[in-house]
Amino acid sequence: MIEAKNLYFKYDEEFVLKGINIKIKEGCFTAIIGANGSGKTTLAKHFNSLLTPTKGNVLVDGIDTRKDEFDSRKKVGFVFQNFEDQLIHSIVEEDVAFGLENLEWSNNIIKKTVEQTLDKLKIKNLAKRNVNMLSLGQKQMVALAGVLAMNPMYIVFDEPTTMLDAKNKNNIMGVIRDLNIKNKITIILVTNVLDDLKYADRVIILKDGSVLYDGKKYKLNKRIMDKAGLNDK
Ligand SMILES: Nc1ncnc2c1ncn2[C@@H]1O[C@H](COP(=O)(O)OP(=O)(O)O)[C@@H](O)[C@H]1O
Ligand SMILES: [Mg+2]
Repeated sequence: MIEAKNLYFKYDEEFVLKGINIKIKEGCFTAIIGANGSGKTTLAKHFNSLLTPTKGNVLVDGIDTRKDEFDSRKKVGFVFQNFEDQLIHSIVEEDVAFGLENLEWSNNIIKKTVEQTLDKLKIKNLAKRNVNMLSLGQKQMVALAGVLAMNPMYIVFDEPTTMLDAKNKNNIMGVIRDLNIKNKITIILVTNVLDDLKYADRVIILKDGSVLYDGKKYKLNKRIMDKAGLNDK
């Protein structure tokens, strides 16, 4: 479980997260939605210790991210909105191996894990390709492969559909759903697009750094969406 307890965060003077209390249980597909600037990315970055609270706590399976960034980060993968910045090596299979090499695994196991991960995502054909020559949709899959290879329990996707065309949007959403259903990975999907909610069980709406709604997707209504500034999309 990932838990935020009375989480406050500020970059400068002003708090941008203001007393967030949420629990994300294993196995579920949670969407975090909110208008631009509502604090979604800031909150999501707390889940894998890219940021740590100014006040309050974030616990990942009971590990306080402020006390143990390393162990909490291992459990939570993060696919960035600008996933291109996440690609480090120029050859796909080398890029996917990058995180594993830092764990000092043997070459054989790394090779096998990379193969299995590319296979799982149906991008084995890209293994020897140059990352810089790939389409955006393919680059995103490679970024995801790098995350998935590390075998996280949770994966955060920050606005995964924003940069993509309709076909690639559908593709990534299908892949995310499969990771949840087939691979039992807990999904946290950050978005400001209502269409992206289709596979989510639960929706958390942020407004100005606070939780405006936290509950079942089917209980959402127009009044709440209007209040969150989300209906004009
Ligand atoms: N690195 C930063 N330094 C200062 N302020 C930031 C930084 N990143 C985000 N902010 C501010 O924090 C608030 C929340 O931003 P963010 O979490 O990116 O929202 P969202 O992802 O919902 O668009 C915004 O007011 C934004 O301007
Ligand atoms: Mg954001």
